[in-house]
Amino acid sequence: MPPSTLENDGGERMVTEGDPTQAMVDIHCHVLPGVDDGAPTMEVALAMLQRGAQDGTRSAVVTPHIKAGAGKEISEFHHRRLGELREAAARADIPVELHQGAEFEFCFGLEVAAQWLTVGLAGSHYILVDLPHGPLSPFVGKGFFELMAAGFRPILAHPERHRELALSRSLMERLRHQGLLFQVTAGSFTGGFGRRAQATAEMMLREGWVEFVASDGHSLVKRPLSLRSARARVEELGGSDEAMRLFYHNPRALIQGEPISVVHPSRSPNASRQLSAWRRLLQRFY
Ligand SMILES: [Fe+2]
Repeated sequence: MPPSTLENDGGERMVTEGDPTQAMVDIHCHVLPGVDDGAPTMEVALAMLQRGAQDGTRSAVVTPHIKAGAGKEISEFHHRRLGELREAAARADIPVELHQGAEFEFCFGLEVAAQWLTVGLAGSHYILVDLPHGPLSPFVGKGFFELMAAGFRPILAHPERHRELALSRSLMERLRHQGLLFQVTAGSFTGGFGRRAQATAEMMLREGWVEFVASDGHSLVKRPLSLRSARARVEELGGSDEAMRLFYHNPRALIQGEPISVVHPSRSPNASRQLSAWRRLLQRFY
């Protein structure tokens, strides 16, 4: 599945190098201690990172939850905590390079919060956004449009785990046409989030609708920083080049400010009609 478009966000960061056929880069994890429902303490955070390192993760973007309505001070708090975690990880000699990021709960007006210190993944213009569970606002596309108009590129966190999206291929396709990138959770490929999430993740892989696979790790045992099993499954389904793209090249490119490879969705006549209807709906509200 060759990439058909390339894009660049121009940053300058080094990722710890390793054998690209083994090393992985995790752009979504909750390892920052004591800030959300992820690692509760520094000790657990270090154990999670050690587990990730043993599994092959060489670089990770920490993405604590930021709830809709949160203030700028939460971002500054996360920044301080990352400094503490980096120091502790260096003292413990854990070979995982850490970058700042966040996982935003979708809300309208997100483009204001997106200017905060720690929000773009590894200092880039890529913003990780989680859609709330339950029925989606019919105007969700407008929210993403405004975020993109402000210069940010949304990466939708684990759409395969969102019931409404997983049940509506056309809704997912509309978001693709709008320009959203998709990040699938590693555990979805190995059945950890149920059969529907697994089937949806596999469909997305077949369609070329995945740019990143990340752990979304929250804990040491139940939801660890583990990517290797999912990588093996993606290799079975899509081949080793595709696994390299999703687990190493694209997340590494995001951190280094290099082009991210994106495979465009197929544009069936039916999809085009749906897209036109979606645009007409959006235009009514501008
Ligand atoms: Fe998450």
